[in-house]
Amino acid sequence: MKISFVWAEDKNHIIGKDGKLPWSLPNDMLRFKNITTGHPIVMGRKTYESFPNGPLLNRLNIVLSRNENYKVPNSVVLITDKSQLSEYVKPDEEVMVIGGSSIFEIFKDDVDRLYLTRIDHEFGGDTVMPRIDYDKFVLVEKKEGVMDDKNIYPYTFKTYQKKIN
Ligand SMILES: NC(=O)c1ccc[n+]([C@@H]2O[C@H](COP(=O)([O-])OP(=O)(O)OC[C@H]3O[C@@H](n4cnc5c(N)ncnc54)[C@H](OP(=O)(O)O)[C@@H]3O)[C@@H](O)[C@H]2O)c1
Repeated sequence: MKISFVWAEDKNHIIGKDGKLPWSLPNDMLRFKNITTGHPIVMGRKTYESFPNGPLLNRLNIVLSRNENYKVPNSVVLITDKSQLSEYVKPDEEVMVIGGSSIFEIFKDDVDRLYLTRIDHEFGGDTVMPRIDYDKFVLVEKKEGVMDDKNIYPYTFKTYQKKIN
């Protein structure tokens, strides 16, 4: 399986605040939806609980928790270790790791592709993206975000691919 990261961060690599996103950026939500739909998504229990409307549609939602009795609906998969992923994901699938911080940390050495939204603004927050060694990646796509009355911060969509050693 191929592992990808999908996330948005601010100037200081902040990704979360009080269990939520520190910003509202509907255009990024749309990009997130487009990138992840049809693929398995892997997330930490806290990120899963941050969804206001429950599991995300049209994607297999896989939740990591150390609590094997954590209750999820039938449509959602609970795992307690990343080694269990292969039971639910086909070998040729692109698995979208969507955070939070602790889950990105777990998959840091496995990730092949990075879908980053860089928001050019400083937000206060309590959750930070783990450090990524960008020397190991090549930028394959870069797109400046469109700003409007609902998307009020400057942002850039970037896609990186792991270099082949
Ligand atoms: N900007 C973005 O792109 C983005 C993306 C995702 C999340 N976020 C934000 O980030 C924050 C949440 O991130 P977070 O790092 O605090 O939490 P998280 O990674 O979403 O979830 C943490 C939980 O994952 C489980 N877990 C962690 N390591 C594990 C391991 N080795 N094995 C099994 N289970 C493990 C534990 O669940 P149990 O406690 O149940 O054992 C842990 O409490 C929120 O504010 C959210 O909005 C932002």
